[in-house]
Amino acid sequence: MRTAVIMATTKTIFACQKCGAQTAKWAGRCFECGAWGAMSEELGIRNKESGKNVLRTQPGKVMALRDIKTTASTYHDTGIGEVDRVLGGGITQGGVYLLAGEPGIGKSTLVAQIANAFSIVPRTIPRSSATTLYISAEESPEQLKVRFNRMGITGDHIAVLTDTTTETVAATIEHLKPALAIVDSIQMMSPEETSDAGAPTKLRASTALLAETAKRAGVPILLIGQVTKALDIAGPKSLEHIVDVVLIFEGDRDGRYRLLRAAKNRFGSTDEIGVFEMTSQGLREVKNPSSAFLETRSDAPGSIVTCVLEGSRPILIEIQALACQTHFPYPERRASGFDVNRLNMLLAILTTNCKLKAESYDIHINITSGFKIREPAADLAVLLAIVSSVTEKPLPHDLIAFGEVGLGGELRPVRDPERRRNEAKKLGFTSSVSPQSHKTLHEILTFLKLT
Ligand code: TYD
Ligand code: MG
Repeated sequence: MRTAVIMATTKTIFACQKCGAQTAKWAGRCFECGAWGAMSEELGIRNKESGKNVLRTQPGKVMALRDIKTTASTYHDTGIGEVDRVLGGGITQGGVYLLAGEPGIGKSTLVAQIANAFSIVPRTIPRSSATTLYISAEESPEQLKVRFNRMGITGDHIAVLTDTTTETVAATIEHLKPALAIVDSIQMMSPEETSDAGAPTKLRASTALLAETAKRAGVPILLIGQVTKALDIAGPKSLEHIVDVVLIFEGDRDGRYRLLRAAKNRFGSTDEIGVFEMTSQGLREVKNPSSAFLETRSDAPGSIVTCVLEGSRPILIEIQALACQTHFPYPERRASGFDVNRLNMLLAILTTNCKLKAESYDIHINITSGFKIREPAADLAVLLAIVSSVTEKPLPHDLIAFGEVGLGGELRPVRDPERRRNEAKKLGFTSSVSPQSHKTLHEILTFLKLT
């Protein structure tokens, strides 16, 4: 098929507003439909091939990429190292941040600490006397004060607004121009004209309005969003494209540790994680997660340590497996912190390649400290934990294992094995099994005398 190259010249034409007929000259009466006073000027295009005028909307303004001026993003550190690590440097002026997490995970606690730290850190951006504006839609000012006090925050540079009308909040942000505005939570905000609280359109409208305000006023805004278990940000999944950064705060609600990760970051990478411990005085940064996570290490069969890489940081984690013999035809497969589908795949590999009768065992996998493993590098350790539990033979206490396991039982290399081994050495793990030391899962099982 021939691609038609439309050679065109722009030209003013007149079009009838009633029937759409076009003419090169203005006329008081349309020559087509006879309507009086209906001809009006439009910018048209004359198609050279057909010689006809084509009605066109005003074209948009195009600019050359090289002529676009940029101002380097300036990061203002929040004063909390673990948060800055995830953000890729700090908070950007006019940036819109969404902090999502399950109810009770500690979002309000984290932002209270950010509000405090951010208002103390000396910075150059213009600020009013109130450096951080905390918009609380869920708690009363008294409740807020009690919570802040409990964490030892006096809040000399924190201003509080309790309002749920998005327009009022936006106007206050523009008027006050704080160094940072925090909205707890976006689900509680409602634009003036809508009344149905919680509706997705309302949520999007509120977010869009606040995002626009952030850009116009040059004020970074941190929005808190509640999510359900499935992490769909309870509707706010649809907010992802409006905001610049989506942060997920996760962990085991009743456990000690909380992880902060970026699901989207227009200002940096999404690789890094921040680790916190929940204490009675709020969240404490965990600078060395490996040793924290291994504080209570088990000696029982079914326990092994692996090393996962989260961005630039290697983290040692204990994996526990428990295999119980069952006589039911459908054995249970449960995993906390590990993908069950991947577990099923690994069990299939084990049954086929290593003749282990996985179908006669209920199998439970637990990643201690509430960590969620995403890297296939943990495959080998999960399999070894299972075999160790089935055979009731404990693994050496100073052993770490990492490596992806293929469907044929072959070991596949993972990135940065040296970094993983070095991190392990620092904490006294002197031996390791990995794709560098062995070729197949079977070889490792023989080496560890697990067959
Ligand atoms: P919160 O930050 O209110 O969670 P979210 O805003 O995500 O719903 O805090 C959740 C839990 O944290 C709450 O059950 C109490 C606990 N907590 C502490 O253990 N220590 C503290 O200093 C604070 C403020 C809260
Ligand atoms: Mg809260």
